[in-house]
Amino acid sequence: MDEATETAVTLRSRQWYGGDDRNSYIHRAWMRRGVPADAFDGRRPQIAIANTASDLTPCNSHLTEVAASVRNGVYEAGGIPLELPVVSLGETQVRPTAMLWRNLAAMATEEMLRANPIDGVVLLGGCDKTIPSLLMAAASVDLPSVVVPGGPMLTGTFRGQPLGCGTDVWRLAEEVRAGTLLEGDFLSSESSMIRSRGHCNTMGTASTMALVAEALGTVIPGVAGTPAPDSRLLEAAHCTGRLAVEMVMVDRRPSTFLTKGSFHNAIVALAAIGGSTNAVVHLLAIAGRLGIHLDLDDFDRIGARVPVLVDLLPAGRFLMDDLHRAGGLLAVLREVQDLLDPTALTVTGRPLVEHLADATVWDAEVIRPREHPLLRDGGIAVLRGNIAPDGAIIKLAAASPHLLVHRGRAVVFDSIEDFNARIDDPDLDVGADSVLVLRGCGPRGYPGMPEVANMPLPKKLLAAGVRDMVRICDGRMSGTAYGTVVLHVSPEAAAGGPFGLVRSGDMVNLDVDARRIDVEVAPDELARRSPSDAMTAAFATPQRGWESLYVAHVLQANTGADLDFLVGASGSAVSRESH
Ligand code: FES
Repeated sequence: MDEATETAVTLRSRQWYGGDDRNSYIHRAWMRRGVPADAFDGRRPQIAIANTASDLTPCNSHLTEVAASVRNGVYEAGGIPLELPVVSLGETQVRPTAMLWRNLAAMATEEMLRANPIDGVVLLGGCDKTIPSLLMAAASVDLPSVVVPGGPMLTGTFRGQPLGCGTDVWRLAEEVRAGTLLEGDFLSSESSMIRSRGHCNTMGTASTMALVAEALGTVIPGVAGTPAPDSRLLEAAHCTGRLAVEMVMVDRRPSTFLTKGSFHNAIVALAAIGGSTNAVVHLLAIAGRLGIHLDLDDFDRIGARVPVLVDLLPAGRFLMDDLHRAGGLLAVLREVQDLLDPTALTVTGRPLVEHLADATVWDAEVIRPREHPLLRDGGIAVLRGNIAPDGAIIKLAAASPHLLVHRGRAVVFDSIEDFNARIDDPDLDVGADSVLVLRGCGPRGYPGMPEVANMPLPKKLLAAGVRDMVRICDGRMSGTAYGTVVLHVSPEAAAGGPFGLVRSGDMVNLDVDARRIDVEVAPDELARRSPSDAMTAAFATPQRGWESLYVAHVLQANTGADLDFLVGASGSAVSRESH
């Protein structure tokens, strides 16, 4: 590092290492352990590598190798790499839902970034909640930060056919329930589902958040979506290590380059890729940390008319390594470049649109041309009505067109346990036109807002050939799932929302064209109703620990389901010493 660069900023870490007193001695001495003294003399950028690698987050277990490449890049650029293991969330493993822990992971990461003598951070994430929690943390600490997404796994095959992670689990499980697939055949597909290291290979939440993080400007453009086993991911990690040092030296913090325009671009990307509905709640939470006003209506206003160009499961046919082969996110964004905010910057210091100049579509089956999209209006529609006064969302690309305007009789379930107990009852009064209603699954009620909104259809209707029904829930749905599902109903039933007052037999009207979701009950009759004891008894009432803190402070889905006291930023200043 030359003298001019070295003096461009006063490093934050100099507050720990730069003095001649007892405390600086302590900070330096305990870190040296064979490292040359100039590593901790207060003049070399200290770069944390916030690593969500964990054996219990199998989608991220390879990130330690990725971290080694980041280290090389940091060293090469004159910085000091410091690995910081942070709370990790394995979507398929943790109960009751990884979303309950997203805010905990964000809070713990935020505090550890602030507490330690670091100047910048490389964020290593992959599985669904890990990139959102890291970005929420980075936004609140506001140190130079850049993401390396861990990348999707390669495509597995079963009996000659590709398997899409998640999506094909739902599909095959429904075939077993419909009686069209033997259970033994279903189970024998298990060993083929996960072909390699990496996260789910459909356009689920992990893929979506990696691509959306790049569109937001927090990843080196062109990196997101690189398959986890691809050696180019390690090259990208090396380059990201170098970039992190540069970002420190020019003081490129999230607050200096993330704007409303960055979120505009993220929403355009979310629509064009046919991404997960979970991105809505995560982007709202990240914006909340930055103090950027983003609301549910922005997703409809910006995204609903953006065509879906990416033909990936669950909305289409292909998988993530196909998207990478076809040109990746930059090729997708080039097709919709006129819809992007040209001023929105990235971690490189240059606008996102400047990185699109060389982007090329190499396979027009996977990345469709603008004039032949997978779906013309593909984003996420925001609905309101007397059962969702603060909003609900529906993913148009995952829904059946013939159900987007629908009137049907409600069949209400007061909890997921109630649903599981009754959905396959041959005597359940339900038909193909019915509307399945599931509540008690919001942030507060479950707690944590699980991915249960894509309720399995009644067995007797599956057997009769029904493959989709209108479903409404105050919870979320997996990004790998599909169906005509209205989700994130706000306020949730457990927060006193009128969604809790719907009764079986009420007629429900869904009109996506008019952006309405209503129950045909007169306002005075709805006001007279009170929540059933069965429903309120199912709401979570934790007495201690994180769940108790979470339920007391979690906000509703329409604002990002962050904790009220975590919204906003505290910066990186720490005023007091430890000794
Ligand atoms: Fe980790 Fe799907 S379970 S990305």
